[in-house]
Amino acid sequence: MDSKKKPDDKPVRRSQAWFGKQDRDGFMHRSWLKNQGYPHDLLDGRPVIGICNTWSELTPCNGHFRDLAEFVKRGVYEAGGFPLEFPVMSLGETQMRPTAMLFRNLASMDVEESIRGNPIDGVVLLMGCDKTTPSLMMGAASCDLPTIGLSGGPMLNGKFRGRDVGSGTGVWQMSEMVRAGEMTMEEFTAAESCMHRSSGTCMTMGTASTMASMVEALGMSLPENAAIPAVDTRRHRLAQLTGRRIVEMVKEDLRMSKILTRQAFENAIRTNAAIGGSTNAVVHLLAIAGRMGIPLTLEDFDKLGAEMPCILNLQPSGKYLMEDFFYAGGLPAVLREIASRLHLDAPTVNGKTLGENIANAACYDREVIKTPEEPFMADAGIAVLRGNLAPNGAVIKPSAASAHLLKHRGRAVVFENIEDFHARIDDPELDVDEHCVMVLKNCGPRGYPGMAEVGNMPLPPKVLQKGITDMVRISDGRMSGTAYGTVVLHTSPEAAAGGTLALVKNGDIIELDVAARRLHLEVSDEELARRRADWQAPDVPKRGWYKLYVEHVQQAHLGADLDFLVGSSGAAVPRESH
Ligand code: FES
Ligand code: MG
Repeated sequence: MDSKKKPDDKPVRRSQAWFGKQDRDGFMHRSWLKNQGYPHDLLDGRPVIGICNTWSELTPCNGHFRDLAEFVKRGVYEAGGFPLEFPVMSLGETQMRPTAMLFRNLASMDVEESIRGNPIDGVVLLMGCDKTTPSLMMGAASCDLPTIGLSGGPMLNGKFRGRDVGSGTGVWQMSEMVRAGEMTMEEFTAAESCMHRSSGTCMTMGTASTMASMVEALGMSLPENAAIPAVDTRRHRLAQLTGRRIVEMVKEDLRMSKILTRQAFENAIRTNAAIGGSTNAVVHLLAIAGRMGIPLTLEDFDKLGAEMPCILNLQPSGKYLMEDFFYAGGLPAVLREIASRLHLDAPTVNGKTLGENIANAACYDREVIKTPEEPFMADAGIAVLRGNLAPNGAVIKPSAASAHLLKHRGRAVVFENIEDFHARIDDPELDVDEHCVMVLKNCGPRGYPGMAEVGNMPLPPKVLQKGITDMVRISDGRMSGTAYGTVVLHTSPEAAAGGTLALVKNGDIIELDVAARRLHLEVSDEELARRRADWQAPDVPKRGWYKLYVEHVQQAHLGADLDFLVGSSGAAVPRESH
């Protein structure tokens, strides 16, 4: 039904398969919609724009999205379209247990089927909190209609007792101060209402800001999408312009597959290095590329990101916050600095190339946005490690790590799961010092399940009390994009899938050499084979989503999508419902 031409050469829109029918079914599709007060002529064949909304009071980062949608609607009406807002599963990073990541793929199915099953010609994706961006991008990609992204924008800078405090990053810092006896619980509690004081997403370069930057670097949003604060009226203007633009995109038949090319993903990977973005971008970009049928591997992150400088001085790697980033010029200014390493002819949703979009971008604050010549940090791309401990790879973010630990050999202190970790980490009898390597098992896609953000394990109090704030840590989990430290993540295969990680024992020696991209367990193959013979796979869930997820989730190096969701089914109009 898509894009077929009528004899008079006007395109027959997808939505007309519902609203254009002069029969009983057409009556039903139109009449029930009219109970919301819409006049008949809105159903005359103009582009119907679905506004895919992840608003939820349980996703506080997206709590302002119903307001934002109203501005999108203004733009859609102005451009001659008909906007219809619809909700999809909303994943709140800070509330959902065992981890919002367990439901990313589920939400993507909701998005995909909600788009395909409804009378929609084009889609606006309202995205904010960490998992809401990849789940919407993945689901929409599997439909491939004309689609434009709009992020909710970051919160204003956190302000606590005269200083800036960043989402997440400040929590990790202050909770360690409480554990080290340097901060009282009263002060810690007082900081809660100071850190998060406006609508919006985490204002550090955590996963939400990273993914908003990825959306912009991929060409999937209008310029400036990543950094305009949620409460700045320029965010509303951007929403209105986004609404106008999607109507034109439907007329131009500018589908996601025309934007999300291999070049676009290469631009995104390089941008992620330049902004010191989250390691979570790795699993999300791999999963989105998988939906588009774009070949993208873990190696691409290392190859394309290696030798990329980080030029953004933002927490958790640096000092400033997203509000500062916007005033300094936002993502267009960063992209212009690294322009020589980008595919500037990559198309974007506004109909211009990436190069055209950033041609006049300027930097207004060199403290915040540096240059490749004098970067904030050299060689900052995500490094992919290999070795007998991670035959399919593991990742580390060098810009968030301690330089003196990037090459390290130490004795393993092993935790079987996160409960085991919490039960023993504060025990003064725990045999651990700062030279040890903390190993956490069973936090991967199948093991947790859902690949939780627990990889940045808090340090033992007796190490913290020496003033030491970093140790080498290894797991098959992820870490929050707001976190930092010498933390090896996404180890594949994971422990619960029988990876070598499952076989590590207390006292084993582990070697980490980031420059050589090496992660090695100094245990002989024979001994590992003996341990493997004794290893027992953990129990698997018996019913429901957990069961479906564990049975079908792919390993981290493939993006942790479900095997049967990889690829696209397009958006052909399904058969009639009555
Ligand atoms: Fe929602 Fe950070 S927790 S954006
Ligand atoms: Mg997170």
